[in-house]
Amino acid sequence: MTADEAAALIQNGQTLGVSGFTPAGAAKVVPKALAARARAEHEAGRPFKVAIVSGASTGDSLDGELARADAISWRTPYQSNKSLRESINAGRTRFFDMHLSHLPQQVRSGFLGDIDWAIVEASDVSPSGEITLTTSVGASPTFLRCAKKVIIEINRFHSPNLRGFHDIYEPMDPPFRQPIPILRPSDRIGTPTVKIDPSKIVGVVYSDMPDENGGFEPADETTERIGNNVAEFIAGELHAGRIPKQFLPIQSGVGNIANAVLGSLGAHPGIPAFEMYSEVIQDSVIQLVRTGKVKFATGTSLTIAKEVLLKFYDDLEFFRSRILLRPQEITNNPEIVRRLGIITINTAIEVDIFGNINSTHIMGSNLMNGIGGSGDFTRNAHISIFTCPSSAKGGKISTIVPLVSHMDHSEHSVQVVVTENGVADLRGKTPNERAQLIIQKCAHPQFHDLLQHYYEMSKQGQTPQTLSRAFAFHEQFLRSGDMRQTPLG
Ligand code: COA
Repeated sequence: MTADEAAALIQNGQTLGVSGFTPAGAAKVVPKALAARARAEHEAGRPFKVAIVSGASTGDSLDGELARADAISWRTPYQSNKSLRESINAGRTRFFDMHLSHLPQQVRSGFLGDIDWAIVEASDVSPSGEITLTTSVGASPTFLRCAKKVIIEINRFHSPNLRGFHDIYEPMDPPFRQPIPILRPSDRIGTPTVKIDPSKIVGVVYSDMPDENGGFEPADETTERIGNNVAEFIAGELHAGRIPKQFLPIQSGVGNIANAVLGSLGAHPGIPAFEMYSEVIQDSVIQLVRTGKVKFATGTSLTIAKEVLLKFYDDLEFFRSRILLRPQEITNNPEIVRRLGIITINTAIEVDIFGNINSTHIMGSNLMNGIGGSGDFTRNAHISIFTCPSSAKGGKISTIVPLVSHMDHSEHSVQVVVTENGVADLRGKTPNERAQLIIQKCAHPQFHDLLQHYYEMSKQGQTPQTLSRAFAFHEQFLRSGDMRQTPLG
């Protein structure tokens, strides 16, 4: 059927489980048609909104188009779209954030209500209901199985030979769950396709749209220094014997900084060829697989620029034994992260002097993207690392603050903080020692004295804190747009 015909089947108030983990593998043409339908309904004076549950963020044809059409009633678990972010922060879309490994189980348990439709991009579907996914797996296997009805978008942009790049495994729910038998990143435990009852598939729509990945900013001096600091730290840990000589798998987060950090890890001579057990496979990983520095990479999405993906498809047979996509419930699974001993590297919006991390909110109130998988990995890591530049917005914001304005990862989960200025290794350190390390090693020189002043004036108890001034940096920014003149009294 056409995308318009598929969109016409969806009713106001229904819940859609959509494919996509980042824009990779996201449903595209049906959501776009649905946004047009919503606009037409609104013009006719009728309400039209749907709830959207995804793997993680999606592309602009889905989150962007539907948000601009004011057609999303509620949304979970992660997004990174400008229009949707505006709609959420303005209170037009209800959004609740959750750890990405939790989502499929919550869907199966009915915590989010019924999934009326699964709308899933695929590279192939057989008459018996075997679906080969495209560049992401995310939560699609769960949506496909739990939804009452299914619409498949067959996307011809993708290679028709993707069968074998996915390892589909859905755990049994408690009390019947078994150990998940992954002992090495490259272990395959599932099936290459998602198998569903074909009678649920009410429509197949064809498309040829590439994934709407934005691409990355090239590494600049700051991100390069952050990357080098991370690489030096990990090489030092290996040298000191705190990472075994066989090395450990790496997880790396999303965004420009994470992409640059991986580039630095790949270039460092003190770091041996490694495996990745991660969530998102970004551009830099593909290059490292080509050079042999990454021996094997598994994730839930292949979030790479269009040109990089086309070259990947040209060399598909080379990558077949080196890249594997799994459901987010498996890539981000705490059991596996802890068992494999993953070194996790994620990005913070702000860090406080004790090592608490804000990954999701600007000035405590406005949502940026969401927690994503950063909590799944950080809490269970062998070594958990957070990176960020020491300042933002042209130096007007210190990313190192007395107390985070929103907390996603607490000091109990965060072991190492890295900025372009240096590395604060917080392991075995008290809150007082952490504060001194973070200020000395990580803070921007412009904010060094202010942070030290805050620390000195607060020095009492187990965790030095002056509650009345803990948000003075943020208050100053909200007043003047610049944290540098923060009065501490
Ligand atoms: N205050 C205000 N704005 C800030 C800020 C702060 N303390 N720190 C960063 N920003 C702004 C930047 O200026 C930039 O703004 P712009 O888009 O207007 O240029 C934006 O936030 C993104 O920052 P950038 O430095 O480009 O980082 P990034 O692309 O690497 O993204 C996160 C950083 C934290 C937003 C991103 O990694 C994220 O969403 N993380 C949470 C989910 C996660 O960790 N997933 C991985 C799990 S596997």
